[in-house]
Amino acid sequence: VTAGPADAPFPPPPAEADELFGDRIDLAVAYGRLLATVAVERGLVGPGEAARIWHRHLLNAALLGQVVPPGATVLDIGSGAGLPGVPLALARPDLTVSLVEPMRRRIEFLHEIRESLDLEVVVVHARAEDLPPAVADVVVARAVAPLERLGPLAAPLLRPGGTLFALKGRTAADELAAAADVLEGCGMSGGRIHQLRVGEAQATVVAITKREAG
Ligand SMILES: C[S@@+](CC[C@H](N)C(=O)[O-])C[C@H]1O[C@@H](n2cnc3c(N)ncnc32)[C@H](O)[C@@H]1O
Repeated sequence: VTAGPADAPFPPPPAEADELFGDRIDLAVAYGRLLATVAVERGLVGPGEAARIWHRHLLNAALLGQVVPPGATVLDIGSGAGLPGVPLALARPDLTVSLVEPMRRRIEFLHEIRESLDLEVVVVHARAEDLPPAVADVVVARAVAPLERLGPLAAPLLRPGGTLFALKGRTAADELAAAADVLEGCGMSGGRIHQLRVGEAQATVVAITKREAG
């Protein structure tokens, strides 16, 4: 995978990126450039996204690093072109991150990203439903399904006490309320909304925890 011409329309990192990615900022720049070039060319990211890669994609995803517990085993279900899992793995090298994605074209891109950035992520070609149970401390997801479908997808994958962190938009509170009965039914509770912010970068994250057994 190559990053396209050096003058491709990809803006320099904003100040928040230094704070979130620390000494891995160069890898974040390389990933952002691949999203803005190769992923756009292959139709994995919309053409209008190139100019907004930093705030809407990289920083939004990396902010999850503020709530994921240390050393967690993390599944990014429906990772697409690597979001939020790749920025999260870059921002938090202590995590073990697996990118789960059923679509072949997207899986190929994820393998290329892993190799070209020399990232220690695991790329898993599967649907979330087909993974073995209770393998993760944390499930993360963005733009995969509303909470009433995402909760039942994530619950079996989580160890007791583990947490689903879903990146959501303005509908977070309404979605959480609408999903309350379904979440309760699949053993999830304690839905909480975090508004995360560093400078101009922001993310709305819904956290729902799988109940301990007993
Ligand atoms: C709208 S895209 C979002 C991609 C990425 N999370 C993002 O925020 O840019 C939804 C992704 O979820 C994947 N997906 C849909 N159903 C899934 C399932 N049951 N298990 C795992 N991934 C799924 C799709 O293949 C697609 O890549």
